[in-house]
Parts: sequence; structure tokens; C-alpha cells
Amino acid sequence: MAQRTGYSTAQITLHWLTAIGVLVAFFTHDAMEEIAEQTWEAGGAAFPTVHTIAGMTVFFLVLVRVILRLRTGAPEPEGDGIQQAAAVWGHRLLYLMLLAVPLGGFLTWIVGIQDLGDLHGLAGKALMIVALGHAAMAIYHQFVKKDGTLMRMLRPGK
Ligand code: HEM
Ligand code: HEM
Repeated sequence: MAQRTGYSTAQITLHWLTAIGVLVAFFTHDAMEEIAEQTWEAGGAAFPTVHTIAGMTVFFLVLVRVILRLRTGAPEPEGDGIQQAAAVWGHRLLYLMLLAVPLGGFLTWIVGIQDLGDLHGLAGKALMIVALGHAAMAIYHQFVKKDGTLMRMLRPGK
């Protein structure tokens, strides 16, 4: 995989759009649960909601992101040894959850496997916790270790 010293404009834009999508999907989950319950009780079929549109958008943005990352590479995380490995595996976990959570929602709502709903909800909440931990680490690196990590997701590099 190619090695860069910074993220491209496309990677940075996709990062922040993904983050917004996850937040919208997360903050509409209560409404989605109610809609799903009422729809299923009435024997109705799946239809688009703010939650499902935001969630599916995340899925496709992340697909593009992964393809872009494989083709153009990404900078190595700051730090050394365990710290760097933690960042690499943390990012891999995030990518996995960013694809698996919407996919679970799709199987629950569009394919109609309603029993997957609880698992999807749990995974969605876990994604939010991992993303919050990730944001906290980025802030810690930027303001405590002062290694410029946060700026990498704000200012494009080569
Ligand atoms: C990043 C994307 C997503 C996140 C973070 C997310 C998160 C959540 C959460 C936290 C719940 C509440 C579960 C609970 O409190 O028990 C939920 C419910 C639900 N979500 Fe998502 N979701 C996402 C994407 C999607 C997508 C793409 C779809 C469908 C295409 C979807 C369909 C549903 C449905 C049908 C429910 C109700 C399940 C039930 O009540 O059994 N979600 N989601
Ligand atoms: C739902 C919210 C978020 C998700 C899903 C998310 C996801 C990700 C992922 C998957 C990466 C790895 C990029 C790569 O190397 O390909 C990343 C990098 C990064 N994120 Fe986030 N992020 C979120 C929110 C945030 C927030 C709120 C901040 C800042 C406070 C932030 C700061 C960063 C930084 C600085 C990097 C680059 C880290 C490095 O190069 O070592 N992210 N993010």
C-alpha cells in the first residue's frame, strides 16, 4: 500500500461527512425504533427514513473511503510501537463497524430480518462509543502530546 505523509482533500471530506452521517443515524435511532415497531405491527413494508438514509449514506461513503485508501494509501499514525499499533487497529475496527452496522440495519429493515434489530442497535451504540474514544484520542494527541494529529484531518497533505 502506498505511503503518504498526509490525508488527501477527498479523504478528509469523506471523514467528516461520514462522522456527520453516523451522528445523524445515531440521534434518529429512537424515532427509527418507533417507526419500525409501528410498521411491523401494521404488517407494512420498509420505506426510507432519515435514519436509514443517513445510515446507508455512511455505508457508501465508507466503501468509497476504503477503496480510495487502498488505492492511494494513508499516512502512518503518530507515535511508535504499541501506540501506533493501537491507532492502526482502532481505525480498522472503526472501518469494520462503519460497514457492519449499516449492513445490519439493511438486513433488518430492507431484507426484513426483524430479529437482527436488537443486535444492530447494540452494534450501533458500540460504534458510537468507539468513535467517541477515537475523537478523545485525536484531541489528546493534538492538545496534550502536541503532535499535530488533529491537523492531519483538517489540512490536506501529500
Ligand atoms: C451508522 C449507521 C447506523 C447507526 C449508528 C444505527 C444505530 C441504530 C441504533 C442505536 C438503533 C436503536 C436500537 C435500540 O435502541 O435497541 C437502531 C435501530 C434501527 N436501525 Fe439503525 N443504525 C444505522 C444504520 C441503519 C441503516 C442503514 C438501516 C436500514 C437501512 C437501519 C435500520 C434500523 C432499524 C429498522 C432499527 C429498529 C430496530 C428495532 O427496533 O428492532 N439502521 N439503529
Ligand atoms: C463518528 C465519528 C467518527 C468516525 C466514524 C471516524 C472515523 C475515522 C477513521 C476510520 C479514521 C482512519 C482514517 C484512515 O487512516 O484511513 C479516522 C482518522 C482520524 N480521525 Fe476520525 N472519526 C470520527 C470522528 C472524529 C472526530 C470527532 C475527530 C476529532 C476530534 C476525529 C479525528 C480524526 C483524526 C485526527 C484522524 C487521523 C488520525 C491519524 O492519522 O493518526 N475523528 N477517523
